[in-house]
Amino acid sequence: MAVDLLLGLQWGDEGKGKIVDVLTSNYNIIARFQGGPNAGHTLEFDGIKHVLHTIPSGIFHKDAVNLVGNGVVIDPVILKKELENLEKFGSDLKDKLLISRKAHLILPTHRLLDAASEASKGKAKIGSTLKGIGPTYMDKTGRNGIRVGDLEMADWKEKYRNLANKHEEMINFYDVDVQYDLDELETEFFKGIELLETLKFTDSEEYLHQAQKQGKTILAEGAQGSLLDIDFGTYPFVTSSNTTAAGACTGLGIAPTKIQEVFGVFKAYTTRVGSGPFPTELFDEDGERMGRVGHEFGATTGRSRRCGWLDLVALKYAVQVNGVTQLIMMKADVLSGFDTIKVCTAYNYRGQEITHFPYNIEAENVTPIYKHFEGWNQDLTGMTEVSQFPKQLEAYISFLEQELEVPIKIVSVGPDRKQTIFR
Ligand code: GDP
Ligand code: IMO
Ligand code: MG
Repeated sequence: MAVDLLLGLQWGDEGKGKIVDVLTSNYNIIARFQGGPNAGHTLEFDGIKHVLHTIPSGIFHKDAVNLVGNGVVIDPVILKKELENLEKFGSDLKDKLLISRKAHLILPTHRLLDAASEASKGKAKIGSTLKGIGPTYMDKTGRNGIRVGDLEMADWKEKYRNLANKHEEMINFYDVDVQYDLDELETEFFKGIELLETLKFTDSEEYLHQAQKQGKTILAEGAQGSLLDIDFGTYPFVTSSNTTAAGACTGLGIAPTKIQEVFGVFKAYTTRVGSGPFPTELFDEDGERMGRVGHEFGATTGRSRRCGWLDLVALKYAVQVNGVTQLIMMKADVLSGFDTIKVCTAYNYRGQEITHFPYNIEAENVTPIYKHFEGWNQDLTGMTEVSQFPKQLEAYISFLEQELEVPIKIVSVGPDRKQTIFR
């Protein structure tokens, strides 16, 4: 059986969580393949809003198994809080959750190292969520990390101590002021570990292999967005994992030949949280309106998201890198009421018009070139089918489909599960 893949095409927060929740009824297994609690995936139904950081967004469906794959980095402290929040909604949630033995652990000192590294960068900081993501992936690729499977070994605490001691020396190396009480952080960490140890650990690549043989359907859930990919994103203002399609193969042990549909999720405009270039960013009333109407505040850090028009140059690049087969457009409702809607169709790059995504998109090199579209005034949030769409929205969608050469199969018109229109 094939595996489908769902990922973000912009700088994260496209609405992946909502759509995974909507699509879960078609799948037996939902599997997160990279990132960690830097992610904040929001879903809403029955008037309740849930934000997930580590746990896959299929957790509210009775029959789906939710797997945290080997490519994910886990903070036991945050996972414990997530599980405690979920307890109110059903005690069997834990039984449907599987954790890969090969997933790496975020230690308290990884978070401190993140803070020290950011502080040392001053104005050039990445704008990290400070969840310890970068340092944990550095220890993974540096072959120093501690994995979930290590918790089953007798000597893991010794390994932990050695690594934490080394981290403390590294924190001292950064000449910055990072205040901490490691005893307190470790007490919290070991409580998290205790809870983690009550979950089901698995050799997840083998589990997924057998599931495929048995004809089970699998949806791989991405975190962050393609423009935050460590290789293809706006480096160094990126996260530390491969957020693009290939990351699902390494993050779950799924062969590339087994991937069927690649669902690419994008907002009808663009947002970004943290530092880094953003050619279509708005600093005017339009940008302020997108942020206000779209409630553009980070689900993990609460920071305001920077807002701007849709960047088709960047979106095409993301579609290409991921091999997207179906597009999903989110937050169309937020664009209601704009007289004119703009789409960036090319960049003026150092005086030359280009339509590909260049090495460098800093403002001194790139000015966006826009195509203008007529806006619409109708409120979309109560609409249930495409035939109700204003003609201006249909024109916007058709233009994007034509340019991206991929069909837009779902249009989302509000945060609730029900506000989802299939085309
Ligand atoms: P993710 O990280 O990709 O899962 O996205 P986030 O959850 O961080 O951010 C998306 C935000 O937009 C959340 O607050 C969602 O509840 C909300 N949202 C999702 N789809 C829609 C939509 O179609 N319209 C509106 N207005 N809000 C939406
Ligand atoms: P979801 O899955 C939006 C951003 C941070 C920062 C950069 C590096 O909810 O879409 P890190 O904590 O990884 O060191 O931060 O990446 N970032 C996100 N932005 N959504 C996310 O996840 C993000 N995860 C990280 O703001 O700019
Ligand atoms: Mg998010």
